[in-house]
Amino acid sequence: MNDTISNETRFLHAIEFGLGAWQWGDRLIWQYGQNYGDEECRAAFEVSLEAGIRFVDTAEVYGNGRSERLLGQFLRETEQPVLVATKYFPFPWRLTKKALKRALKGSLERIGVETVDLYQIHQPFSLLPIDSLMEAMAEAVQEGLTRTVGVSNYNQNQMLRAYSALARKDVPLASNQVSYSLLNRAIEKEGLLARCNELGVRVIAYSPIEKGMLTGKYSVETPPPGIRGQRYSSLLPKIGPLLKLMTEIGQEHGGKSKTQVALNWSICKGTLPIPGAKNARQAEENAGALGWKLTEEEVEKLDEASDAALQ
Ligand SMILES: NC(=O)c1ccc[n+]([C@@H]2O[C@H](COP(=O)([O-])OP(=O)(O)OC[C@H]3O[C@@H](n4cnc5c(N)ncnc54)[C@H](OP(=O)(O)O)[C@@H]3O)[C@@H](O)[C@H]2O)c1
Repeated sequence: MNDTISNETRFLHAIEFGLGAWQWGDRLIWQYGQNYGDEECRAAFEVSLEAGIRFVDTAEVYGNGRSERLLGQFLRETEQPVLVATKYFPFPWRLTKKALKRALKGSLERIGVETVDLYQIHQPFSLLPIDSLMEAMAEAVQEGLTRTVGVSNYNQNQMLRAYSALARKDVPLASNQVSYSLLNRAIEKEGLLARCNELGVRVIAYSPIEKGMLTGKYSVETPPPGIRGQRYSSLLPKIGPLLKLMTEIGQEHGGKSKTQVALNWSICKGTLPIPGAKNARQAEENAGALGWKLTEEEVEKLDEASDAALQ
């Protein structure tokens, strides 16, 4: 293993796969309450645990706190140890270091725990400078409110700034959570993935099945509902050849689905994918990305097909 990884954050590098919990309570993008609700979210959590997944990613803003509350409820219903990651949203009115600690305490209360395993800054746009945010994060570690500190959606410069500010306080930067899938490879192309690997910063890949686009269930004729329909209208006509290759490669591995191929590809690239699941069926299928590996040649072919789709 990479010797730039600090002892405090090593556990995160040993996690291969996680579960995203944005879906738990979000009505705007995910239509929570329409075709799924709390029971389906609970089932997604339970099925993931049965499959050996022990890392859940949530945020204070998901469902306005509902995601954290549901996670707390589900954690109390299981005896399994689960690692919890949540996030601080740097709203423009949060102008002091104290605001971060207050928000973290709110998250801990909703989840019903005394500490989380990873506390992340949700996105880099903040009126409080990165250095001050990181000082507040370091204090949260020192006070035992979080085990480690991460960022999300930070570019290389922002991440290096956070990394150095934390280093001055003797706290390692554990992770950068960024969008990464076969249909969004910006972090690979722009060097962020390589830089994270150099620094021992774990890359947590969000939207690893590109919000459902890589499952193959959406097309120009059957676009996704709501905001996603608009967002992906120009991409959907271009992804046919990639989806076809994913089906062929899945067949070579005993009938793995496109979704499972997409998620296995993220693992092969050295990232920790955290697909969101609305129900047991989705969680079970996603967990089927574990326990097997694409060959290097298959990863290369997928990269080529993804490049062609994204041209
Ligand atoms: N840090 C950030 O800024 C940020 C941003 C986004 C997400 N995240 C985190 O990353 C997690 C995952 O990202 P994401 O939710 O954006 O996208 P994703 O994981 O790529 O896609 C999740 C969506 O795909 C569909 N789906 C999932 N599994 C499926 C399956 N097996 N078969 C068919 N459809 C399936 C479901 O929606 P439908 O059934 O409606 O199609 C589900 O809501 C989130 O839960 C959150 O924890 C973080």
